[in-house]
Amino acid sequence: MGLSRLVVLVSGNGTNLQAILDACADGTLSAQVVAVFSNKPEAYGLERARRAGVPAIAFSTREGESRQEYDRRLADSVAVYAPDYVILAGWMRILTTNFLLRFPNRVLNLHPALPGAFPGTHAIERAYAAWRRGEIDRSGVMVHLVPDEGVDTGPVLGVEEILFQDGELLEAFEARLHEVEHRLLVKTIKNLLNTKVHEVSS
Ligand code: GAR
Repeated sequence: MGLSRLVVLVSGNGTNLQAILDACADGTLSAQVVAVFSNKPEAYGLERARRAGVPAIAFSTREGESRQEYDRRLADSVAVYAPDYVILAGWMRILTTNFLLRFPNRVLNLHPALPGAFPGTHAIERAYAAWRRGEIDRSGVMVHLVPDEGVDTGPVLGVEEILFQDGELLEAFEARLHEVEHRLLVKTIKNLLNTKVHEVSS
């Protein structure tokens, strides 16, 4: 059984990409990251890819280009790497069907909140503020399939709750949440790859 091929899309620091790269390197995942794309050329995630010897592709928007055109170009470039899965690991750009229909059931997104909660940007800060107002006592992390243009919605593949701790500062909560993300993302990809192997061989 060959290694599964992962393309990872990032917009920022890439700590979740790093968790995937590490899990591929130490054999936790029977997979290889075959390319990393970023809509932000300065994203540190690209540097992490280069350090791991993985093609790092800065994929900026062109002037006057529509979202659909960008997504078609992006899909063409991602398709060159023949991914089994495309992982959105801190990819902060909504993908249209021009991209998603090219990789049906193959696009996974990581979101730093529970299903249905705090879609979009700054989810961690918004959840923390809601806790401080007494509205919630927990948040969490989820990994889901991206079937359509909905923001941070789709069939949930992995989820983990995180309870707020008395008097906890935002930074401390954020650090705990990121730890959970790194673990849950790898675990969910691993489960998915195992299921696929199982389906193919049965
Ligand atoms: C992560 O917290 C991820 O869940 C979030 O961006 C961060 C990227 O961190 N994604 C979203 O908010 C999607 N709505 P990283 O670049 O260090 O992996």
